[in-house]
Amino acid sequence: MTLQVAIDGPAASGKSTVAKLLAARINGLYVNTGEMYRAVAGAAFNLKINPDENPQELVKLLSGWTLEYRLDSNNNSLELYFNGKPVDHAFLRSKEVSDIVSQASAIPEVRDWMLQKQRDCAKLPVIIMEGRDIQTVVLPDATYKFFITATPEERARRRLKQGDFKDGTTLAEVAAQIAMRDKIDSTRPVAPLKAADDALTIVTDNMTPDEVVDKMVEFMRQNPRN
Ligand code: CDP
Repeated sequence: MTLQVAIDGPAASGKSTVAKLLAARINGLYVNTGEMYRAVAGAAFNLKINPDENPQELVKLLSGWTLEYRLDSNNNSLELYFNGKPVDHAFLRSKEVSDIVSQASAIPEVRDWMLQKQRDCAKLPVIIMEGRDIQTVVLPDATYKFFITATPEERARRRLKQGDFKDGTTLAEVAAQIAMRDKIDSTRPVAPLKAADDALTIVTDNMTPDEVVDKMVEFMRQNPRN
């Protein structure tokens, strides 16, 4: 039997950090579906396609692209490959990609293209999958569902501290970028960001990542599933 942990939440809520820590604690494999969407947005950026203005231009390229997680058995981890090459993580987290990723992710054909790839990953024995629609759409029967969030102010502070920004970037600019993505992600007609009814929501403002993971592990211990 597979153990599937579905973690969703808004931008910069700390879900990647806790998902990775949880994967290490329970000896599972971590899948970052945001990075999969960023890979498509990055390819659009390189081809100078604006996913908002010309979604169909992006859609018609999808069938010629490959995107897959490959198991690195040395590290017991998964590495993302786009068109046969490992992705450039720093580029995928750049402002240029962040600025268009929510527009690319709102395209229904892009989401359809992702779905089976994400479900295939979930066939591995212990999987911790993180994103926006994992508990509602990708893995509605996941063993455990967590919605990880924090106030917008705290999320902007955390993202600025991560340092993926040009020197001089202000907290207000980061907050505005996050607010724009939150809005697109939670109001799009297809697979909007929301907690499933059976998810445990954790508001993480005054918690360290380890405290969040403690809470998740405790919940799993108290709610064993067969
Ligand atoms: O790390 P951060 O929380 O900023 O974002 P991310 O997880 O890297 O996701 C980037 C974007 O991809 C999100 O803002 C969504 O627009 C999109 N996404 C999605 O639509 N569905 C998912 N399952 C994961 C990400």
